[in-house]
Amino acid sequence: MRTSQPQTIYLSDYKVPAYLVDTVDLRFELFEDGARVHSTLEVRRNPESGEVSAPLELDGDSLTLESVTLDGAELAEGDYEDRGDQLVVRSVPEQFSLTVVTWIEPQNNTRLEGLYKSSGMFCTQCEAEGFRCITFFPDRPDVMARFRTRIEANRDAYPVLLSNGNDVEKGELENGRHFVTWEDPFPKPCYLFALVAGDLVEKRDTFSTCSGRDIDLRMYVEPRNAEKCDHAMDSLKRSMRWDEEVYGREYDLDIFMIVAVDDFNMGAMENKGLNIFNSSCVLASQETATDMAFQRIEAIVAHEYFHNWSGNRVTCRDWFQLSLKEGFTVFRDSQFSADMGSPTVKRIEDVTLLRTAQFAEDGGPMAHPVRPASYMEISNFYTLTIYEKGAEVVRMIHTLLGPDMFRKGSDLYFERHDGQAVTTDDFVKAMEDASGRDLGQFRLWYEQAGTPVLNVSDDYDAGKGVYRLTIEQSIPDTPGQTNKKPQHIPFALGLLGKDGQPLALQLESGYSGAPMERVLELTEAVHTFEFHGVESRPVPSLLRHFSAPVRVRYNWTREQLLFLMSHDPDGFNRWDAGQRLAVDVIQSLVGAPDDTEIEPRLVEAYRKLISDADLDQALVAKMLQLPSEAYLIELSENADVPAIHRARDAVLRHLAGALKGELLACYQRHQGSGPYEITPEAIARRSLRNTALAWLLLINDEDGRTLAVSQLNDADNMTDRMGALRALVNSGFEADRQQALDDFYDRFQDDPQVVEQWFSVQAASDQAGQLSDIRKLLEHPAFDWKNPNKIRSVVGAFAGQNLAAFHNPDGSGYEFLADQVCRLDDSNPQIAARLVTPLTRWRKFAFAYSAQMKSALERIRDKSGLSRDVYEVVHKSLAE
Ligand code: BES
Ligand code: ZN
Repeated sequence: MRTSQPQTIYLSDYKVPAYLVDTVDLRFELFEDGARVHSTLEVRRNPESGEVSAPLELDGDSLTLESVTLDGAELAEGDYEDRGDQLVVRSVPEQFSLTVVTWIEPQNNTRLEGLYKSSGMFCTQCEAEGFRCITFFPDRPDVMARFRTRIEANRDAYPVLLSNGNDVEKGELENGRHFVTWEDPFPKPCYLFALVAGDLVEKRDTFSTCSGRDIDLRMYVEPRNAEKCDHAMDSLKRSMRWDEEVYGREYDLDIFMIVAVDDFNMGAMENKGLNIFNSSCVLASQETATDMAFQRIEAIVAHEYFHNWSGNRVTCRDWFQLSLKEGFTVFRDSQFSADMGSPTVKRIEDVTLLRTAQFAEDGGPMAHPVRPASYMEISNFYTLTIYEKGAEVVRMIHTLLGPDMFRKGSDLYFERHDGQAVTTDDFVKAMEDASGRDLGQFRLWYEQAGTPVLNVSDDYDAGKGVYRLTIEQSIPDTPGQTNKKPQHIPFALGLLGKDGQPLALQLESGYSGAPMERVLELTEAVHTFEFHGVESRPVPSLLRHFSAPVRVRYNWTREQLLFLMSHDPDGFNRWDAGQRLAVDVIQSLVGAPDDTEIEPRLVEAYRKLISDADLDQALVAKMLQLPSEAYLIELSENADVPAIHRARDAVLRHLAGALKGELLACYQRHQGSGPYEITPEAIARRSLRNTALAWLLLINDEDGRTLAVSQLNDADNMTDRMGALRALVNSGFEADRQQALDDFYDRFQDDPQVVEQWFSVQAASDQAGQLSDIRKLLEHPAFDWKNPNKIRSVVGAFAGQNLAAFHNPDGSGYEFLADQVCRLDDSNPQIAARLVTPLTRWRKFAFAYSAQMKSALERIRDKSGLSRDVYEVVHKSLAE
């Protein structure tokens, strides 16, 4: 626990390590009351370090030191210093072997960092700085070593003993114990170390690589989950093939293992050859997982697998470079998901997350560049900016270079830096060197925080047939950064003629054969582009595919948006036009009298979407989703959440009422469409059907209720069952709601992943998730304060999705969240710090709310013994 004020760490202070570690020999003795860790390091002075007589400093956290041995001689207490967070040996030779023995207590580790126990098994999580909770070590990613790991444990309780690499030796020991030794031939930073010991079943498969090597694929899960592995295994094989085909990356070890654990702070972890997954991100069956879960699992399995190259073979020099591996790998997994399903739908999903959550982060007190310049606690920097904006930055490089040059660049990057710990700048340099393009100004995307704003205006000269587009960029101030420079922005656009036909984009007069879409490159504060040979005033289709993570401001008329919604050849922009129209309609109702007319053209546009079976149904399913409350809040200043909630709700109910017949027809059209499949078409059908159902129940429609009850009972898959449950829970049919929840729980109470969904459907519901209901959920026997998934599914879902209840004007939602954060701060500071996020946005809200949010934050700030994690978030969000 913290005793002094947490220190800030600066990128500008980076120094190469004074010592390098060539090999690490680990021996774990695992017992019920603790574990003894023997670690032998072969160490030598780093020739690149100027510090010739530097002491050896090893990081540690919550360790009990038993002994230190240097070149075979045990050191006396005066020969080293145990500072708790560091072990310092003042005088060491040029090269030496150091053995450190520590004692740790995995069974009492509730932070879930380092070695801990989850449902009876031992497992590890070392990224970013968890390895220091296992043994004293230079816990920084630029120290790369070859690991050999021997695990000893009771054979009956822990028949399966796993670590990175290949198993090279195993055998029996006394007292019913056994051991397995693993050797990882690839040097790696310690954050990629992993160990698992448990009573697990093994699922096997094989993958034959492009060069003809057979890789053993193994999944390890608790016996009750044996039937939930197929989807992840198939996803893994697809990922392996895809990375060969698209990036030319072959897998390197002879085995690849995936383990599922119930208690996990994050989604999954890319440990070399031994990926560890949160159960909810890997286990699936038709009966227990929704389409969304299936897609998420495919993406996460791919993501962690792709890290084998973008992260493991080439890793980060320091944690400021985190986006080097995360941004690039998110970009890679999004390309993969696009290739496996519907590219337009995938883009819509990514942009929705970016615009709703990353833009909010970038406009708030925790705003930071893709490559931050400082941090207090690195766990707080696994952010949407590092991940999602980082992926957008890589995507822009892809757009600027084109796919072939981009591939050349990534080949060069992997070849040049294989086995190294490098920086985002090295990545950009490889892209430059391979393509010959200058990305000098582009690098500002890594250095400047904040979402650029593009103000777009236009005029049309009918006499000359010239259409002129002026784009002005500005980047808002963010904490510690003002007066920003213009960035290099790829801006894709098209122009539509009056019948909706795409126009050729002639930037010079007389030039024929111009393309229908262009990527303009913005580098200055203001640009004006002239398009020639334009016969009538066109409708611009701006920032197609969301070609840059920016806000576009242009005075669209509703007429233009309706036109784009039905004519834009870019599916993404068709969706975007619909969103902008819906935002405009909802915003005009916020605070307006109840009898204000709701735009009839919106109703007609939706009628067409629902009824026209010839449209791409996957896109239609997305277009029918109204902009979320969170997005509407993000777009507003001085947000009054209950007013936004009422306005959005009014539009939804109005649409549902006006389109009842179409909704019922849509439901019928997509009913019982063959056996369960996870194809984009089948997913779209289920999504449309469940949207129709949800809308009908919002207006307490009796036909809808009958359909929901029978769907809930008859569904052969979780998507439909959950769709019916959610619709009932959010309806006014109180008796049905309770019955549905009770039956559902009875049926699935033994499945933790389903119980988590059951918690969150209630916690996120404005009908079933009032604060008193939430408190009951916390008392429910299935709730567990030690399990991050349960905390997220109740507390996280309430504060993050049930916005009208969370922002109750009496401040009770804020007080509640502050209480839970304080409670969790002692047991799991990483999760506590993440839960604070909704409160950190206090400046966005109308005074009545913001004042109370601020005082909830102050109460957290004043808790004694606050963790560094929560300290950083709370202090930064309260700072002027
Ligand atoms: N390396 C991370 C996992 C991680 C994050 C470990 C933070 C420790 C601290 C992993 O590759 C990752 O990014 N996982 C994501 C899912 C992914 C699909 C974006 C996660 O866990 O949410
Ligand atoms: Zn990752």
